[in-house]
Amino acid sequence: NGGANDPKNLKVKLVLLGDSGVGKSCIVLRFVRGQFDPTSKVTIGASFLSQTIALQDSTTVKFEIWDTAGQERYAALAPLYYRGAAVSIIVYDITSPESFHKAQYWVKELQKHGSPDIVMALVGNKADLNEKREVPAQDGIDYAEKNGMYFIETSAKTADNINQLFEVHSHIST
Ligand code: GTP
Ligand code: MG
Repeated sequence: NGGANDPKNLKVKLVLLGDSGVGKSCIVLRFVRGQFDPTSKVTIGASFLSQTIALQDSTTVKFEIWDTAGQERYAALAPLYYRGAAVSIIVYDITSPESFHKAQYWVKELQKHGSPDIVMALVGNKADLNEKREVPAQDGIDYAEKNGMYFIETSAKTADNINQLFEVHSHIST
């Protein structure tokens, strides 16, 4: 036991933040159940889901995911969820500049009040709606780079980049 070749069981605590309607719950549902819900209901308070994946070297990674509510009335609850998190995934909708501004608000909030070693990812979701795009990918890339964040565009609808978004954080063990 404890040898270098033993399988390991890792645990990664994540929180999703971002404006209401950007697709946080759909991203989590896609990752955990492989499904998409076009009639997804707004989240009340927050919801918790977990998903375990196996890496090639037989390491398992359990993602413990807090999916927060984006509606303004729940904003004061957010610290309850981001405080214990190793990774925060901040989501906007590529068709909504307002949601991109809201994402920047969350980045600043975490820089001020989050744990200094929290890892932050910026996610432009609804990449399938490219013909309605109002936030250029380069704006996301530039903002993420300036703030030392990982950046990716996803689609919960088509599943594009959803697994990648989580798997890239599988080494951030808690
Ligand atoms: P709150 O819980 O209020 O914070 O919202 P949320 O961020 O969890 O949004 P939710 O996941 O409920 O999705 C909102 C709407 O966007 C739903 O109608 C989804 O079907 C739709 N949606 C989510 N992801 C995508 C996507 O990648 N592409 C498209 N086209 N629609 C999406
Ligand atoms: Mg939700």
